[in-house]
Amino acid sequence: MNILILGSGGREHTFAWKIDQSPLCKNIFVAPGNSGTAQIAENVAVSVTDFEAIKALVLSKAIDMVVVGPEDPLVEGIHDFFLNDDALKNVSVIGPQKAAAQLEGSKEFAKEFLFRHNIPTAAYQSFEAKDVEEGYIFLDTLKPPYVLKADGLAAGKGVVILNDLKEAKAELKRMLVDAKFGKASSKVVIEEFLDGIELSCFVLTDGKHYKILPTAKDYKRIGEGDTGLNTGGMGAISPVPFADEVFMKKIEEQIVKPTILGLQKDNLPYKGFVFIGLIKVGDEPKVIEYNVRMGDPETEVVLPRLKNDLLELFQSIANQTLNEQDIIIDERAATTVVLVSGGYPEDYKKGKEIIGLEKIDESIAFHAGAELKDGKIVTSGGRVMAITSYGKTYQEAIKKSYQNIEKLHFDKMNYRKDIGFDL
Ligand code: AMP
Ligand code: GLY
Repeated sequence: MNILILGSGGREHTFAWKIDQSPLCKNIFVAPGNSGTAQIAENVAVSVTDFEAIKALVLSKAIDMVVVGPEDPLVEGIHDFFLNDDALKNVSVIGPQKAAAQLEGSKEFAKEFLFRHNIPTAAYQSFEAKDVEEGYIFLDTLKPPYVLKADGLAAGKGVVILNDLKEAKAELKRMLVDAKFGKASSKVVIEEFLDGIELSCFVLTDGKHYKILPTAKDYKRIGEGDTGLNTGGMGAISPVPFADEVFMKKIEEQIVKPTILGLQKDNLPYKGFVFIGLIKVGDEPKVIEYNVRMGDPETEVVLPRLKNDLLELFQSIANQTLNEQDIIIDERAATTVVLVSGGYPEDYKKGKEIIGLEKIDESIAFHAGAELKDGKIVTSGGRVMAITSYGKTYQEAIKKSYQNIEKLHFDKMNYRKDIGFDL
């Protein structure tokens, strides 16, 4: 098969790395890709949301399957675009159709779905600019901290958590009335605060059947001890040590099954990954959010632990025969540590040469914001590289990642030295 992967991060390098191991794979193309995908696939300079350019690429390279990495093309309806085009309708797309992608594209849609299907989640109400006064009154009824969420996609920045009621009201006004996040905050979901430890559950579905993939935990804050600004993710661990069999059974019965059934009942066509962001409150799992794609950097620890042929799984998703597959998981733990540009998640410089990659041993360097320039690998983004290792325990794996990071360097390289500290 000829495969096109859309995206340019560590997630997409990991997809390419895993798909390259499949005997079913002939050629891999990545749009737009990075210096890591360039080593195993052909990069094509096409944007993930330029559907006409993607169509031309799919036809000229005789692509059989498109694997969608990020959420934007899904929320904009790339799967529907393929189904509605006579020349593309037989090309498989891994990723939900537009209606189902609203689970990530709209927080209000996701909350309504969760309540309709009795899936445990935080209490909420949603407000538009015209009801800002009602929003203030609702905030008065809640205890701090106050959780405010822009309804639409806001590049991972749309959730604000505040301790002070006055500040929460001012923030609500900024979001609704002053359009802090543009159209994304024309609606705001105000939510009950859930106190607990977070983890993520990844599910593959063909729309009828599902398979649960390994769990993972990511570290979103820039600073050690989970302090400072939110980032895309500074590291990840799989499996999550506190997600034992009893807890996983609860996740499956109370959350995964009703989610897949809910998609069917609501007629939301879904062939792809469901990323369920969870929080463990006491002994009970509750849903914080749905994403309609894999996580980054969670992919860099989940796929390395998957022993199955990923293309075989994807084919069974396309044919709706996922029930015939058995998921086989590597017993070892996997960890990843993300190297970032100094200054990220705020301003940072690009174009810094990355030195020492050839010295890495017993770890895998998944490239993210890194590109080839004049024969050198240089930084091109905030999150530059994810260094993944295996170990009998996550402690052993993380030690390997840190040993290899010692061999790497670029100007103002930064990373968290405490991944796994809270486990
Ligand atoms: P989201 O974009 O919905 O995943 O939210 C971003 C982060 O905000 C989550 O990873 C949580 O750490 C936090 N968060 C979101 N909703 C809640 C909630 N109801 N209670 C506590 N923390 C939350
Ligand atoms: N690491 C979180 C995400 O991919 O959304």
